[in-house]
Amino acid sequence: MLKVRLLKMLKGSVKYVVLGIIWQWLSLVSQVVTVGAVALAISDIYHQTLELSVLGLYLVVAVVGVIGRVFFDKLQADASFEASADVKTRMRALIYEKLLRLGSSYREKVSTAQLTQMMGEGVEQLEIYFGKYLIQFVYALIAPVTLFAILAFFNMKSAMVLLVCVPAIPIVIAIVMNVARIILDKYFKVYYELGDTFLEKVRGMTTLKIYRADEQAERDMADESEKFRSVSMKVLSMQLNSTIVMDVIAYCGAAVGIAVMLEEFLNQNITVFGAVLFLLLSVEFFLPMRQLGSYFHMGMNGMKAADNIFEFLDSREPNHGKSTLDDSPIRIAFNGVSYAYDGKKVLENISMLIPAGGMVSIVGKSGVGKSTIAKILRKQNRAYSGSIKFNGKELSSISEESLLEKVTAVGDSYIFPGTVKDNLLLGSPKANDKRLKNVLMIVNLWNELKEKGGLGFQLTEGGTNLSGGQRQRLAFARALLKNSSVYILDEPTSNIDPESEKIIMNLVEKLSRDMGRTIILISHRLANVVHSDKIFLLSKGEISEQGTHQELMNINMEYAKLYNRQKELERFGKGGQ
Ligand SMILES: Nc1ncnc2c1ncn2[C@@H]1O[C@H](COP(=O)(O)OP(=O)(O)OP(=O)(O)O)[C@@H](O)[C@H]1O
Ligand SMILES: [Mg+2]
Repeated sequence: MLKVRLLKMLKGSVKYVVLGIIWQWLSLVSQVVTVGAVALAISDIYHQTLELSVLGLYLVVAVVGVIGRVFFDKLQADASFEASADVKTRMRALIYEKLLRLGSSYREKVSTAQLTQMMGEGVEQLEIYFGKYLIQFVYALIAPVTLFAILAFFNMKSAMVLLVCVPAIPIVIAIVMNVARIILDKYFKVYYELGDTFLEKVRGMTTLKIYRADEQAERDMADESEKFRSVSMKVLSMQLNSTIVMDVIAYCGAAVGIAVMLEEFLNQNITVFGAVLFLLLSVEFFLPMRQLGSYFHMGMNGMKAADNIFEFLDSREPNHGKSTLDDSPIRIAFNGVSYAYDGKKVLENISMLIPAGGMVSIVGKSGVGKSTIAKILRKQNRAYSGSIKFNGKELSSISEESLLEKVTAVGDSYIFPGTVKDNLLLGSPKANDKRLKNVLMIVNLWNELKEKGGLGFQLTEGGTNLSGGQRQRLAFARALLKNSSVYILDEPTSNIDPESEKIIMNLVEKLSRDMGRTIILISHRLANVVHSDKIFLLSKGEISEQGTHQELMNINMEYAKLYNRQKELERFGKGGQ
């Protein structure tokens, strides 16, 4: 019922939990003071010895008790809030740090929907665990013992009866827990699936609309929501049923205790004061445990959420290299590199040399593994075998920070909501406006942006208020600002207009010829790779042909065939001259 690891990990938050327990205990003591004053008054009335001045005193004591209770309850609520807030910040920081350590390969471990759930609701559930459940857990142990100590003073036998009945509640909790674990596992599984589906459908809304598949998507969502509803109802009914059982135990326990006490009263083994005190406090005996029962389900959710978070925190971290790359031009040598996704081989024994400052192209049919190479080079895919050396240093030994500084990918660049300037500054945080403007001119974007507000133009998420070509040129400008030694361009001209394509391809060539940058170009448009120093043709995960455009045309094999076919198609597209 307690998670030791969680407590150890969040040691700093535990102090608020301890404070919360102390305040709650003092609130109980205040309650006993009030009840004591009332019991004394009743006892005096019974014995007909009540005097007005004493009644006034009893009243003052009772009021002090009530004020004490309100005061300590408030302190307890504050401590509970502090504990929650502290846990949330600490836990989110732990998850975030882990993400940073996992680096760009985090998606190999966890889906985005899962991560969002974990960071959001998962952490909120831990908050309840710390802020409410833990405090109540300890308090539920201390409170009956405290009350026992008081009541045993008046009559041992009936106090013992109450004390013996109390553990019945945790026994019920333990039984429920076993069932709950199974249901909660299912609950979280369905919950994550629902999150995944929802995110997917929202992202693909336009596509779904275009293909008129939105109705089917709606039905899918409805099915999954129904599954979620049904499992939620199971969780809720389990919680309600167990609450009823706990109520029955609590009230029956109090009833048995009172019955025994009455018998003792008839036998004159307990004073009137003791009997009244007992009557008023017997339900208090069970209340904390009963309350624990209702927090317990929230606690269970919290513990389950903690399990999920731990699983993520424990996931194996890539071997982080420490070596760094200097500013000299970078030469990349692949030697017998293979890569597999979930056991399915995609690349097989690839060896290729990418000279420093050279421009090489990787071409091949769709699905042959071109983007996989790009991802390996950016450490998004880490589990390669064979050797990849950057100026003689093995890729796995190079720190991610240094690698990402020196290697920039342009293909799937994301445009963030914010101004053009905000987006450009990501490439070079210290660049001044003049430099930003200059780089926009280089990619021929300045004239188009000028009318919209220049550097201050506000971009929407994903840059959707730019055209595809403008977006790509902006991404390219940002990449240029970064001043990297290696540029990986994965289909940099897909889905863009011929004018933008020409601008980008000219720049790519300039980057390698005039600026000594190493360029790796991945393109299905063979017209773009013609000027490369070397072209590698991938087929079935292996390099089947390599050489300059002319050499590959001369041997007249697959590359030449692909090239001629594309040429043919383009001519056809232009009107077949
Ligand atoms: N994350 C992944 N998990 C499992 N398999 C994957 C993953 N990414 C790619 N693959 C598979 O690996 C193979 C190579 O994919 P890759 O994206 O490298 O191809 P590509 O040559 O870039 O294709 P394209 O020209 O269409 O972009 C494909 O068969 C693809 O289905
Ligand atoms: Mg690809």
